[in-house]
Amino acid sequence: MLLYLSLSFSYKTIMDFQNKKIVITGATSGIGLEIIRQLQPFHPEIIAVGRAIEKIPALPGVYPFAADISTQEGVDSVFDFALEKLGNIDVFIANAGFGYYEKIESPCWEHAEQIFSTNVFSPIYGLEKMVEICKDRKFTYAITASGLGRVYMPGYVLYCSTKHALHGFASSKQYELPANAHLCTIYPVAMETEFFNRAGGEKMPRPFPVQKVTPAVRNILKDLRKEKQRSYPYRLLPFIIWLSSVFPFLLKINNGIEKKKFNRFMAGETH
Ligand SMILES: NC(=O)c1ccc[n+]([C@@H]2O[C@H](COP(=O)([O-])OP(=O)(O)OC[C@H]3O[C@@H](n4cnc5c(N)ncnc54)[C@H](OP(=O)(O)O)[C@@H]3O)[C@@H](O)[C@H]2O)c1
Repeated sequence: MLLYLSLSFSYKTIMDFQNKKIVITGATSGIGLEIIRQLQPFHPEIIAVGRAIEKIPALPGVYPFAADISTQEGVDSVFDFALEKLGNIDVFIANAGFGYYEKIESPCWEHAEQIFSTNVFSPIYGLEKMVEICKDRKFTYAITASGLGRVYMPGYVLYCSTKHALHGFASSKQYELPANAHLCTIYPVAMETEFFNRAGGEKMPRPFPVQKVTPAVRNILKDLRKEKQRSYPYRLLPFIIWLSSVFPFLLKINNGIEKKKFNRFMAGETH
């Protein structure tokens, strides 16, 4: 009986992604690459986007495409390639992004611009393009935000700003979307991907909690299947967000701990 229930549950999941035409940015590692792996058995056609596309394994139905999605030209080129190759797009997962783990020492416009272009402008522009291209056709658009789009943490000032911006954008946009559009914002917690190495190097401390990528992506795909507006791959995160809004001192205590870790990291780096 249990086997039957679990089989019928996964069969339902399979049905949703079967033969879908999907674009995933940030597909060369981490969450994006794991999404491709978990979708593979369901035979969708996938445009897998990143700059280092040599890292994407050769898989049937997966078409790697090299683009820098931090520019308008880069995003336009992704849409041009996807429409030429697939004819249309059913699901677009705007997942590419990166973080800085740093103390801002001097003003630098380009530094802030780079992270906002990649993490914020690109997914916003991508959704506007999907609305225009799909007209009345049903589509799903997912944006990978972060748990740090709901709470905040020392060391991640610009990163938090970008993810809070996405949260504000997506939450307001839900009220304006046409009926054929499904928008899902994803709020992962820390995961062992390339993210931390890129943000601060191998030795940077990880914030609590940390989740494994495989179950997180499984939950993301379940939530997309159910057409949820928000996906919390770490299922306790909504409770943590609620706790920190009702008892703000808990967030302050946690951030006190994170600040100590951050200060130690910065001291180690400069000595
Ligand atoms: N890991 C975590 O702890 C965590 C937690 C919360 C949210 N997130 C979010 O999850 C998303 C995926 O991150 P991840 O954890 O999978 O990290 P990752 O392993 O570092 O993957 C990031 C992906 O984004 C792509 N990317 C970055 N900048 C790009 C650009 N300008 N143009 C094209 N592609 C670009 C990278 O590809 P190339 O370098 O090949 O271009 C890579 O495929 C990000 O939005 C991140 O903010 C991660």
